[in-house]
Amino acid sequence: MNQSRRNFLSAACTLCAAAVLAPAALAAVNEEDDDKKPKLKVEDGKVLIPAALIAEKLNSFKVKGLPRPLLLIKNPDAYDAYLLKCTHMGVAVKIDGDELACPAHGSRFNLQGGVIKGPAKEPLTRYKVNVVTDGVEVIVA
Ligand code: FES
Repeated sequence: MNQSRRNFLSAACTLCAAAVLAPAALAAVNEEDDDKKPKLKVEDGKVLIPAALIAEKLNSFKVKGLPRPLLLIKNPDAYDAYLLKCTHMGVAVKIDGDELACPAHGSRFNLQGGVIKGPAKEPLTRYKVNVVTDGVEVIVA
C-alpha cells in the first residue's frame, strides 16, 4: 500500500469514528444537564410531576424508566408533554428558545413536536397529560 492511500484510509477511519461517537458524546453531555434536576419515575405507566416542579413554560425532567428526558409544556389553559428523543437516531433533544434542537445532526422541532428541519422525519412522541390534585400526571404507557 502506498503512502497516499494509507493516509487516505487513516483520514477516512478518523472521520467514521467521529461520526459514530459524536452523537453518543453529545447525548452524554445533554443528560448531564438533566442530572441536576430532581428525578421522577414511571409508575403504573404514569409519571407524576408535582406542581412545585412546574415553574416555567418549558420544563425538562429526567425520568427513571424513560429513555430520554420528558418535556412538559405549561400553556395558559393546558399542558403538553413530549419525549425529548430525536426521531432520527434517538439522541436527546434540547430546549433551544421556542424550539427543540437535536445536537447530533441538526434536526429541529417546534413546541407541538413537529419537525421544522431534518434529517428527522417523524414528530416527537407526544403523551397525554391529566391535571391531578398535586400536579400533573403524564401517561407514558
Ligand atoms: S439523532 Fe440525528 S438529528 Fe437527531
